[in-house]
Formats: sequence, C-alpha cells, structure tokens
Amino acid sequence: MADEDIKSLTSKRVLLGVSAGIAAYKTPDLVRRLAELGADVRVILSKNSEQFVAPLALQAVSGHAVHNHAMTAESESGMGHIDLARWADVVLIAPATANFIARLCQGAADELLTTVCVATAAPLVIAPAMNQQMWQNQATQDNVATLIQRGVRMLGPDSGEQACGEVGPGRMMQPEDIAAGLSQSFEHSSLTGTSVMITAGPTWEALDPVRGLTNHSSGLMGYAIAQAAVEAGASVTLVSGPTNLEAPQGTQCVDVISALQMHAAVMADIDRQDIFIAVAAVADYRPQLEELKKIKKNAEKVSIGLIRNPDILAEVARLPKAPFCVGFAAETHDVEQYARAKLKAKKLQLVAANHVGGDETGFGVADNAISLISSDSVTELPKQNKHALARALIVEIAQHYQASNNNL
Ligand code: CTP
Repeated sequence: MADEDIKSLTSKRVLLGVSAGIAAYKTPDLVRRLAELGADVRVILSKNSEQFVAPLALQAVSGHAVHNHAMTAESESGMGHIDLARWADVVLIAPATANFIARLCQGAADELLTTVCVATAAPLVIAPAMNQQMWQNQATQDNVATLIQRGVRMLGPDSGEQACGEVGPGRMMQPEDIAAGLSQSFEHSSLTGTSVMITAGPTWEALDPVRGLTNHSSGLMGYAIAQAAVEAGASVTLVSGPTNLEAPQGTQCVDVISALQMHAAVMADIDRQDIFIAVAAVADYRPQLEELKKIKKNAEKVSIGLIRNPDILAEVARLPKAPFCVGFAAETHDVEQYARAKLKAKKLQLVAANHVGGDETGFGVADNAISLISSDSVTELPKQNKHALARALIVEIAQHYQASNNNL
C-alpha cells in the first residue's frame, strides 16, 4: 500500500479485539502501527487468545490495561462492556478466526469481545486469519458475505504461505496494511458530492419469448463497486442486467434486460454523471430478428443473423461533456496489451483489466485481481475478495478522478 494512502488516525479511538488465532502474535506490532498513526488503542482479548499473545506485551504498547474475556463484577466496575462499546470510534477484530466470524454472524454475546461487538454502534472492521481450506469453506464464505451485507468491512485476508505450511488465501494482512486500511475507514468522503453511474451484470438478447443469448457474468463485481462507491460518499446509479443479486443499499438501481435497454437507461441519465464505470458484460451482438412466438423445431437447420449492439462505454466516452470513464477488460490472454488497446480505442481514462477463463478469478467467483491501467500508469490490485477489491478500486478511481480535475 502506498504511503500517500495512509491517513492519520489522530484522536481516533480504536478498540482492537484479538481472537484466538496464531496471527495474534502480530498484534503488538499492529497496536504500535495504529498508535504511530495517532490512534488511541484499547485491546480486548478473546478467550484463548492469551495462548498466542501475552497481555503484558499489548498493555506495554497500548499504554492501557488489556481487557480480557471475563465479564466479572470487578471488570464491569472499571470500563464495562457498554462503556467500551460506546468509547470506540471503530472496532477492529484482528485476527478474526473462522470461529469468531461464525459467532459474530450469529450475534453471539458469550464473552466480553462478542458482547462488545453486539453492543457497539461503531463500525466493525475485521481482518480474517485462518487456514486456506477454512477460509474457502462454504460456511465461512456465507458468514463473510452476510457480515459484508450488514456493513462489516473486511481487510484481507492475504494469500500466501500460512503458519500451517499450506499456501493459499486466509493469511492475516500485514499489520502496516491493516493500519493503513483502517485509516481509509475514516475517509468516507473521497467521492462525496460526486455522481457515479455503474453498469453491471450480463445482458440478455432475446431470440424468441423463451430463449436468448447471454453470458456468465454474475454482476458481483459491479454490485461490489456500487456498494464501495456509496460507502465513499457518491450518489450511485446502478444500471443492471439480469442478476440474482440485491441492489446495495443506497444505490438507485435501474433494471434492464437487453443491451439496447441498458444503452437507453444509461443515455437517459448520463448528463448528470461525473464518473461512469462500465462493468457490465454487454453482448456485442443481438439477434437480427426477435421472434414474437416460440421458434418450433420444424426445420433441420436454422441460422441466426446477429447485428452489432451499440458500444455503450465508447459512446459515453465520445460525448462532448463526457464523464470520467472507466472500462473493464476481461481477457483470457495478453491482458495488459488488450487493455491498453481498449483504453486508446474507446478514449477512456482508466481500464480495469482482469484475467478470466481460469478457475480462480473472473466470472462468478468470490476473489478477483485487477491491473488498473491509465495512459501513464499501471496499478496492481492483488487477488482478494471482490468487496475488498472494489473498495481498493474506488480509492484508486477517486484519486485519478481528482487528479484529472486538478489538471483541468
Ligand atoms: N461495453 C459496453 N458496451 C458494449 C460492449 C462493452 O459498454 N456493447 C463495455 C464493457 O462494460 C466494458 C468494456 O466495454 O467496460 C469492454 O470492452 P470491449 O472491448 O467491448 O470488451 P469485449 O466485448 O470483451 O471486446 P472484445 O470481445 O473485442 O475483447
């Protein structure tokens, strides 16, 4: 993470919850990093986490007595669970184990740390840390998706070699990255006052009333970007093809089916947009004729004539008062080369390029990685879940957008 991303946490009250994973040994360093950014840090240790980190070490770096799992009359007479819950500007759980995430998801209040999480009105940020198989387990993924929907922010996990010797996603983010990521939680204003339109999902090009041409786009990435843009303070219009997703809270969602409908919906409202992010996998072609009645299988051979759909993004970028335009390039090979060609051909400010076709990134999967390409820079956003990636992408887009305004 670049230094310029690190904003001060001066006077921010960070309540750090430590759950019982091996990565807990890194938390004294995390407290130090948070304190370096100006935060006032208090620590709650969950049951069993003392086996991985010494309370005295955390007390020494935070400068305050550590709260532990017990809720005794004595501890409640000091700073009790409600006082702690009220004190915090943000509650950061690092490491957040699979078990802790499951309990958080259930709303358990069975020890001090879980109770504070239920009792606080402060935003919750969690840094997951677990074995890669546990991270990829469907139950964990479902719990994480539920927490994200409730507004819990995720930092990580990272991918790489794990304490158990396995390699894969699940490793806790490095303390300096968690501290920098947390400081971004307080920058809700990077897109305040900005109108952003996002296209998402596939389009459906009808052949007859029951059949059509479409693609595998799930809409996950576009919806995650819409949510991240709302969190960053933008007024967001989401123009979506058919998906199984619920529109993120705070967005104005326009549902469409075909590329022509998406084109019309975008053009109807593009004048008041500052930023246009085209994430939709728009069908390049549609059937020349849409049969009004179901096609019967009478003929031995049928051919379908296809005609070009409008290129929505290229058309928006050509407008006399074009918004700041961000395109997506999903490629199976020569990713950067094709992305650069799209940047030039469509006259875009940014292209977010990702590699599709493998099993691990791209359509329909939870994790993704992006190379963000401008005319004079390439920023690599490493593989992470689509919500974390969307937030990182919005931070980058906001910076490029502001820089382009400053150059006007
Ligand atoms: N796009 C669009 N309207 C279209 C086609 C694409 O707005 N009719 C947008 C997509 O949302 C995406 C970008 O353009 O942001 C993709 O660029 P494009 O070159 O059209 O991608 P492909 O259709 O994949 O092109 P090709 O098949 O030539 O690689």
